[in-house]
Amino acid sequence: METVTGGAPPAPRRGEPREAEVRLPSPARSGPDGAGAPWWRGAVVYQVYVRSFRDADGDGIGDLAGVRAGLDDLARLGVDAIWLNPCYPSPQRDHGYDIADYRDVDPVYGTLADLDALIADAHARGIRVVMDIVPNHCSDRHPWFRAAVAADPGSDARSRFLFVDSDGSDEPPNAWTSVFGGSAWTRVPDGSADPQWYFHAFDSSQPDFDWSAEDVRAGFDDILRFWFDRGVDGFRIDVAHGLVKRTPLPIDDPSQDGLWRQGGVVDVYRRWRRIGDSYRGSDGGDEPRYFIGEAWADDPAFLRSITAPDALHQSFAFALLIQPWFAHRLRAAIDASLAAAGPEGPAWALSNHDVHRLATRLGQERIDRDFDPLDMLSGARRTGPVDPDLGLRRARAAAALLLALPGTVYLYQGDELGLFEVLDLPDGARQDPIWRRTGGRELGRDGCRVPLPWTADGPSMGFGPDDGAAPWLPQPEDYRGHARDRAENDPASILALHRRLIALRRDLVGSADGLEWIDPAPPGVLAFAVGGLVCATNTEGADAAWRPPAGARLVLSTCDGAEPGVVPGDSTTWYALDA
Ligand code: GLC
Repeated sequence: METVTGGAPPAPRRGEPREAEVRLPSPARSGPDGAGAPWWRGAVVYQVYVRSFRDADGDGIGDLAGVRAGLDDLARLGVDAIWLNPCYPSPQRDHGYDIADYRDVDPVYGTLADLDALIADAHARGIRVVMDIVPNHCSDRHPWFRAAVAADPGSDARSRFLFVDSDGSDEPPNAWTSVFGGSAWTRVPDGSADPQWYFHAFDSSQPDFDWSAEDVRAGFDDILRFWFDRGVDGFRIDVAHGLVKRTPLPIDDPSQDGLWRQGGVVDVYRRWRRIGDSYRGSDGGDEPRYFIGEAWADDPAFLRSITAPDALHQSFAFALLIQPWFAHRLRAAIDASLAAAGPEGPAWALSNHDVHRLATRLGQERIDRDFDPLDMLSGARRTGPVDPDLGLRRARAAAALLLALPGTVYLYQGDELGLFEVLDLPDGARQDPIWRRTGGRELGRDGCRVPLPWTADGPSMGFGPDDGAAPWLPQPEDYRGHARDRAENDPASILALHRRLIALRRDLVGSADGLEWIDPAPPGVLAFAVGGLVCATNTEGADAAWRPPAGARLVLSTCDGAEPGVVPGDSTTWYALDA
């Protein structure tokens, strides 16, 4: 049994006595074969986009005190952990993915003491806390980058970033483009005759580190320890497929292949795993810390390499997230993701803060083809007409499919309320650098980041205090119908559905590590057994005749009208297998 404490500042050093010891349960262990499994196996992790979760101080921006205030709701939902999007000091050009100081909290979100208190409160409720680490790049306001700009070409200070000489012209070194649009190069404003250019895979305010510099590697080791010592349970690693580039930087290669998915990144993760594992039992019962990578890749060998037994625990199974709503596509993506996962199993998500909301995507026209995981625009940020009733019906079915899968499941805040993408934000309100850098050709990601509705009434729908500033992005009026207080009292709400699914998952799926397809199934039906659960999802509009194996008892349907022998159109049915 582990004991973990959320520290109050200053963080207790390892080995020192702690003030209050809180016993954290191992949520997945109650399920089939769960004995001894680490907490993340089978767990449900709730993604908190801090800026939009809840605003306690009334400045119109969500904050850590707001997350604390919402913890009881998350405990009621039944989640095992939260993942906090970055809340470090940052100029907020990419809402925290541009970090100026990796060891503090941005005042807009609170203080280090607020974070310590959040960790303690979460742990007291049996909820782990996973933070976001951004190792591919920092902010151009980070002291290292400022020092680099102030230093000479060829200096040690510049060796931490990817600087190249200019040829004296105004042309960037090559035609590489940034993920957010526009050139991937910016010239330093250093006043010299031939100023150098620096590489940025994202915005110009996000210079990429050079991970061949030992300085950079050692610096991040210390950052990890800083947070682990405060009781943080793990990290989600931003752009986990990108930090290590081919060396020397292949600037003559127009393909940009040398920028992504380089084998050398595994050395970094081995080093991190050793640090995370060093917490196991280090002070009389701590747990190893957990790592999950955000790696957009369609190469199973690469995905397997970064989740080898001595590297990251998991990486997101994005193959599933981008699939259109067709049983055969979903099945193929589930199979591919299971095959590409490491020994700790896959981590599934159907949405996050970078893609259009699930209910919107599922309410759009289906296209029966494989989408390129590297092409978010066609895969997960399509525009086009949306049928909201259909989108919501399918979102319910998709939630039940997701929560039946073996492995770790990530839920994005607001999906439990059935929120839709806000596609019609006023241009002037948009803040995503994608919108700016593509000259408005791409809407970007603001529409999935609109502040949450907590109450059907009130000027900010309970996101902030009634007399507080307006939310940082305007909430559409129809968000009132999705408010948590309303859903809370409605047994037919998608929130109530999520609560039931999560509770049943704990008992029936637990930390099971594989699934068995049940064949044959009618076209459009996806049926499998996992642990003590049978799940059948129908992705077609018409009801399908399908019977579960003998002895399976119907326990849940995502719509009315399910009975043994029928899976209604666009729905999922769960059956419990008798022990
Ligand atoms: C990741 C994040 C995204 C961010 C980008 C640059 O993809 O999820 O929100 O903009 O990295 O850090």
